[in-house]
Amino acid sequence: MNSNDLAEKAIEAMSMSYSPYSKVKVGAALFTGSGKIYTGCNIENAAYSPTCCAERTAFFKAVSEGEREFKAIAIAGGKDGIVNEVFPPCGVCRQVMAEFCLPDDFNIILVCRDGYREYKLSALLPLGFGPESLQEGK
Ligand code: THU
Repeated sequence: MNSNDLAEKAIEAMSMSYSPYSKVKVGAALFTGSGKIYTGCNIENAAYSPTCCAERTAFFKAVSEGEREFKAIAIAGGKDGIVNEVFPPCGVCRQVMAEFCLPDDFNIILVCRDGYREYKLSALLPLGFGPESLQEGK
Protein backbone atom coordinates (compact mmCIF):
# COMPACT_ATOMS: atom_id res chain seq x y z
CA MET A 1 0.00 0.00 0.00
CA ASN A 2 1.58 3.28 -1.00
CA SER A 3 0.94 6.60 0.69
CA ASN A 4 -0.92 8.01 -2.28
CA ASP A 5 -3.46 5.17 -2.36
CA LEU A 6 -4.01 5.41 1.39
CA ALA A 7 -4.52 9.17 1.04
CA GLU A 8 -7.20 8.50 -1.60
CA LYS A 9 -9.01 6.13 0.79
CA ALA A 10 -8.99 8.82 3.49
CA ILE A 11 -10.51 11.33 1.08
CA GLU A 12 -13.22 8.80 0.15
CA ALA A 13 -13.98 8.16 3.84
CA MET A 14 -14.76 11.86 4.34
CA SER A 15 -18.05 11.31 2.52
CA MET A 16 -19.33 9.17 5.44
CA SER A 17 -18.71 11.91 8.01
CA TYR A 18 -21.59 12.65 10.38
CA SER A 19 -20.85 16.27 11.28
CA PRO A 20 -24.02 18.37 11.37
CA TYR A 21 -22.57 20.71 14.05
CA SER A 22 -19.07 21.64 12.88
CA LYS A 23 -19.67 20.87 9.18
CA VAL A 24 -16.09 19.60 9.17
CA LYS A 25 -15.76 16.31 7.31
CA VAL A 26 -12.84 14.10 8.33
CA GLY A 27 -11.81 10.75 6.86
CA ALA A 28 -9.09 8.32 7.91
CA ALA A 29 -7.64 5.19 6.33
CA LEU A 30 -5.62 2.88 8.57
CA PHE A 31 -3.25 0.32 7.06
CA THR A 32 -2.63 -2.76 9.22
CA GLY A 33 0.32 -5.09 9.57
CA SER A 34 -1.90 -7.81 8.09
CA GLY A 35 -2.33 -5.74 4.92
CA LYS A 36 -5.91 -4.57 5.41
CA ILE A 37 -7.35 -1.07 5.36
CA TYR A 38 -9.90 0.15 7.90
CA THR A 39 -11.54 3.48 7.21
CA GLY A 40 -13.19 5.86 9.65
CA CYS A 41 -14.98 9.19 9.75
CA ASN A 42 -15.80 11.70 12.47
CA ILE A 43 -19.12 11.08 14.19
CA GLU A 44 -20.52 14.07 16.05
CA ASN A 45 -23.16 14.22 18.76
CA ALA A 46 -25.67 16.83 19.93
CA ALA A 47 -24.06 16.67 23.39
CA TYR A 48 -20.71 17.46 21.70
CA SER A 49 -18.31 15.54 24.00
CA PRO A 50 -19.32 12.05 22.77
CA THR A 51 -17.99 13.03 19.33
CA CYS A 52 -15.51 10.52 17.92
CA CYS A 53 -12.71 11.56 15.58
CA ALA A 54 -12.17 9.82 12.26
CA GLU A 55 -8.84 8.37 13.38
CA ARG A 56 -10.27 6.75 16.49
CA THR A 57 -13.22 5.39 14.54
CA ALA A 58 -10.74 3.65 12.22
CA PHE A 59 -8.57 2.36 15.09
CA PHE A 60 -11.49 1.07 17.13
CA LYS A 61 -13.03 -0.66 14.13
CA ALA A 62 -9.71 -2.39 13.46
CA VAL A 63 -8.90 -3.31 17.07
CA SER A 64 -12.42 -4.67 17.55
CA GLU A 65 -11.79 -6.97 14.58
CA GLY A 66 -8.63 -8.34 16.20
CA GLU A 67 -5.99 -6.12 14.56
CA ARG A 68 -3.08 -5.13 16.77
CA GLU A 69 -0.34 -4.04 14.35
CA PHE A 70 -0.47 -0.90 12.28
CA LYS A 71 1.81 0.59 9.64
CA ALA A 72 0.26 3.90 8.64
CA ILE A 73 -2.80 6.14 8.76
CA ALA A 74 -3.88 8.73 6.21
CA ILE A 75 -6.09 11.61 7.35
CA ALA A 76 -8.06 14.09 5.26
CA GLY A 77 -10.34 16.81 6.55
CA GLY A 78 -11.85 20.17 5.90
CA LYS A 79 -14.88 22.38 6.34
CA ASP A 80 -17.76 21.26 4.10
CA GLY A 81 -15.54 18.43 2.90
CA ILE A 82 -13.09 20.68 1.11
CA VAL A 83 -9.45 19.76 1.72
CA ASN A 84 -7.11 22.75 1.92
CA GLU A 85 -4.48 22.58 4.64
CA VAL A 86 -3.42 19.39 6.43
CA PHE A 87 -5.83 18.25 9.16
CA PRO A 88 -3.53 17.06 11.96
CA PRO A 89 -4.72 14.45 14.48
CA CYS A 90 -5.84 15.74 17.88
CA GLY A 91 -3.91 14.85 21.02
CA VAL A 92 -6.35 12.13 22.05
CA CYS A 93 -5.98 10.39 18.68
CA ARG A 94 -2.16 10.64 18.89
CA GLN A 95 -2.39 8.94 22.29
CA VAL A 96 -4.52 6.12 20.85
CA MET A 97 -1.90 5.68 18.11
CA ALA A 98 0.81 5.48 20.82
CA GLU A 99 -1.01 2.55 22.41
CA PHE A 100 -0.72 0.34 19.34
CA CYS A 101 2.05 1.74 17.15
CA LEU A 102 5.82 1.97 17.30
CA PRO A 103 6.54 5.71 17.38
CA ASP A 104 9.53 5.56 15.02
CA ASP A 105 7.83 3.24 12.52
CA PHE A 106 4.23 4.37 12.29
CA ASN A 107 3.58 6.79 9.41
CA ILE A 108 0.98 9.56 9.57
CA ILE A 109 0.00 10.81 6.13
CA LEU A 110 -1.71 14.19 6.20
CA VAL A 111 -3.59 15.05 3.05
CA CYS A 112 -3.58 18.62 1.78
CA ARG A 113 -4.65 20.49 -1.35
CA ASP A 114 -1.50 19.68 -3.30
CA GLY A 115 -0.89 16.12 -2.11
CA TYR A 116 0.21 14.98 1.34
CA ARG A 117 2.87 15.39 4.04
CA GLU A 118 4.19 12.35 5.87
CA TYR A 119 5.40 12.17 9.49
CA LYS A 120 6.45 9.54 12.00
CA LEU A 121 4.32 9.29 15.14
CA SER A 122 7.46 10.13 17.16
CA ALA A 123 7.61 13.52 15.43
CA LEU A 124 3.98 14.35 16.24
CA LEU A 125 4.04 12.91 19.78
CA PRO A 126 7.56 13.34 21.21
CA LEU A 127 8.26 11.78 24.61
CA GLY A 128 4.91 10.01 24.45
CA PHE A 129 3.43 7.96 27.25
CA GLY A 130 2.88 4.44 25.96
CA PRO A 131 2.50 0.85 27.19
CA GLU A 132 6.26 0.58 27.82
CA SER A 133 6.04 3.52 30.23
CA LEU A 134 4.18 1.21 32.64
CA GLN A 135 6.78 -1.56 32.56
CA GLU A 136 8.75 -2.42 35.72
CA GLY A 137 12.04 -0.60 36.08
CA LYS A 138 11.09 2.35 33.86
N1 THU B 1 -11.80 15.73 14.29
C1 THU B 1 -11.36 14.54 13.80
O1 THU B 1 -12.12 13.77 13.21
N2 THU B 1 -10.06 14.22 13.97
C2 THU B 1 -9.15 14.98 14.66
O2 THU B 1 -8.05 14.52 14.92
C3 THU B 1 -9.50 16.35 15.03
C4 THU B 1 -10.96 16.67 15.02
C5 THU B 1 -13.21 16.08 14.10
C6 THU B 1 -14.02 16.14 15.37
C7 THU B 1 -15.13 17.09 14.99
O3 THU B 1 -16.17 16.34 14.39
C8 THU B 1 -14.52 17.99 13.93
O4 THU B 1 -13.32 17.37 13.52
C9 THU B 1 -14.22 19.39 14.42
O5 THU B 1 -13.44 19.36 15.56
